[in-house]
Amino acid sequence: MIEIQNLVKRYSGPAGDITVLDELELKVLKGDSIAIVGPSGCGKTTLLNILGTLDIPSSGSVSISGKSLEGMDADERARFRNHTLGFVFQQHFLLPQCSVLENVLIPRLAGDWEEGEDETRERARKLIQELGLEHRLDHMPFQLSGGERLRAAVARALINQPALVLADEPTGSLDPSMGDQVADLFAQLNNQHDVTLVTVTHNMALANRMGRVYSLENGKLRQG
Ligand SMILES: Nc1ncnc2c1ncn2[C@@H]1O[C@H](COP(=O)(O)OP(=O)(O)OP(=O)(O)O)[C@@H](O)[C@H]1O
Ligand SMILES: [Mg+2]
Repeated sequence: MIEIQNLVKRYSGPAGDITVLDELELKVLKGDSIAIVGPSGCGKTTLLNILGTLDIPSSGSVSISGKSLEGMDADERARFRNHTLGFVFQQHFLLPQCSVLENVLIPRLAGDWEEGEDETRERARKLIQELGLEHRLDHMPFQLSGGERLRAAVARALINQPALVLADEPTGSLDPSMGDQVADLFAQLNNQHDVTLVTVTHNMALANRMGRVYSLENGKLRQG
């Protein structure tokens, strides 16, 4: 599902270049779930952004689902992102003026989908129900608890039936015991939706429930 070879990412800053990712290698098979841990600033979000086609490597190769990301132009990247990837961010970025159902439907607005509108709405309702939020369908984000917001964000990440879900600190500022709940949720995604999962987290309860745990150190991934 993911193959990264010799990935280097440098940023130039006021004090010169910094190398955040340094000849990093990674292989993830379809259906795997992995966690990436490491101290603040070690490059976890940078790596996820590159996998998410939101940022471009300085050098090296990245392919997802057999497609090489290097050759894609901006349109192809946008299409790939929309069709193949699902994102869950730390600050869930739900639109405050939209209900749970409307938020889940947002990724559907861009792109040319064959499925009819009614069918999509029905699928959105089902997803929301699966995630235990059916009683919050018409609630606005401010009327949800932190965990409920996360579940809405996960439903939104799944609406386009992605092959790969990228999650950056999904437990966010939720209390530490949320690690287990998020892990249950992700196990469900992994099993029922056959989704490959890469999650960046500080929460070891969550990390240890993933198939493999990597730590990002000095620009490289180390398993264990
Ligand atoms: N656009 C940018 N320009 C310059 N430097 C950047 C840029 N984005 C990130 N960096 C630097 O790259 C390093 C890695 O940042 P990154 O956001 O990937 O860390 P992280 O591991 O996700 O940290 P955290 O756990 O705090 O979220 C940091 O030192 C950061 O300052
Ligand atoms: Mg980060």
